[in-house]
Amino acid sequence: MSAMTAKLQGLLDWVDERFPATSGWKAHLSEYYAPKNFNFWYFFGSLALVVLVNQILTGILLTMHYKPDATLNGSGVPVAFASVEYIMRDVPWGWLIRYMHSTGASAFFVVVYLHMFRGLLYGSHRKPRELIWIFGMLIFLMLMAEAFFGYLLPWGQMSFWGAQVIVNMFSAIPLIGPDLSLWLRGDFVVGDATLNRFFAFHVIAVPLVLVGLVAAHLIALHEVGSNNPDGIEIKKNKDAKGIPLDGIPFHPYYTVKDIVGVVVFLMVCSVVIFFMPEGGGYFLESNNFIPANPFQTPAHIAPVWYFTPYYSVLRSITYPLFGLEAKFWGVVGMGAAVVIFFLLPWLDRSPVKSIRYKGPVYKTALALFVIAFGTLGYLGVLPPTPVRTLVGQICSVVYFAFFILMPIYSKLDKCKQEPERVTG
Ligand code: HEM
Repeated sequence: MSAMTAKLQGLLDWVDERFPATSGWKAHLSEYYAPKNFNFWYFFGSLALVVLVNQILTGILLTMHYKPDATLNGSGVPVAFASVEYIMRDVPWGWLIRYMHSTGASAFFVVVYLHMFRGLLYGSHRKPRELIWIFGMLIFLMLMAEAFFGYLLPWGQMSFWGAQVIVNMFSAIPLIGPDLSLWLRGDFVVGDATLNRFFAFHVIAVPLVLVGLVAAHLIALHEVGSNNPDGIEIKKNKDAKGIPLDGIPFHPYYTVKDIVGVVVFLMVCSVVIFFMPEGGGYFLESNNFIPANPFQTPAHIAPVWYFTPYYSVLRSITYPLFGLEAKFWGVVGMGAAVVIFFLLPWLDRSPVKSIRYKGPVYKTALALFVIAFGTLGYLGVLPPTPVRTLVGQICSVVYFAFFILMPIYSKLDKCKQEPERVTG
């Protein structure tokens, strides 16, 4: 051992006596055994972490130059809107930081939706991973809140009117609704008070909760260990030393594999950031390059693409019921479309976890659900017509039927026999 190595070892020993550095490294990386058969679908957890870090770092840099102020400057432009223009034009590399952040927002939802879909494929939400799923769903709710608050900050037309529509939805709640939406806005219309509080939520309150939830998500994951594409528990088959026979150390095997995923992902993101930062109007909407104008409603207000499936569910409820207006039931339907995901671990009664061994009924149900979800998402960006509303209604029924009927069809389905050990 060279003198230098001995000194470093001494330093590490000193730290280890005071902090679980080496034991933590072993428990969570070099001696944390993950199933050897992770496939493409297992990239998205680490990619979500990469996007989270990107959003926090670029967000800090943006906050250094952004001003949450709705008053008009000398040129009659809202200060908040002008500060974003300033970032884009005058701050060195400001355009890159902003596009990394705006592209990151959409990338976050792409990655998280694929990450959740993997759960539906392999039954990752099932026992003993229910809490991982619950923490995941809380992350998802926080992510939606974070994106909603962030979208108001550029103070463009879509920022303003989008927030106006969403906050007004709360006014549909009987009795307390109108007061609740006034309280949320802090004013009779979306205004400076709204912008300031949304800024506070976007830059500190929600990110803090989000980071805490991600930590809880990973602690729960490391408590039970990962599922895998076969949906069988690797901890059931261990060698004499207690190491799962179908497990491999997370480091170096999956750290290296995940780097490959990260590189490909960053290449795709770079193409968007450098060549199509507006994402065809889906990532940054053209109306949002116009300063917010409370006196001029845009002809067509649609949320950003990642909210549109739920927005379509809201729009597909067009009838009043039990004396309550359709708008109220629309809000209930939209909320239920998100909240119902929480119940998944208890809705799936299939004897097997992975789609590889599930029968034709679950496979058909999942395919129909994906089609319904995609169609609802597409319809949500379009202005409504009677035909589109009807299609939206059919898709909403399919969407909810997937969950509500799951306890029945997942039990009746003809499943294949699971193997004893993981396959390729
Ligand atoms: C910021 C967002 C999120 C981050 C950073 C994150 C991170 C991770 C990571 C690193 C893993 C382990 C690697 C992997 O299995 O891909 C994981 C697993 C998992 N995540 Fe997430 N996650 C996020 C959101 C979600 C959401 C929204 C859900 C579902 C509602 C979810 C459900 C799960 C489940 C069930 C597992 C275990 C998968 C298995 O073992 O097969 N996660 N997550």
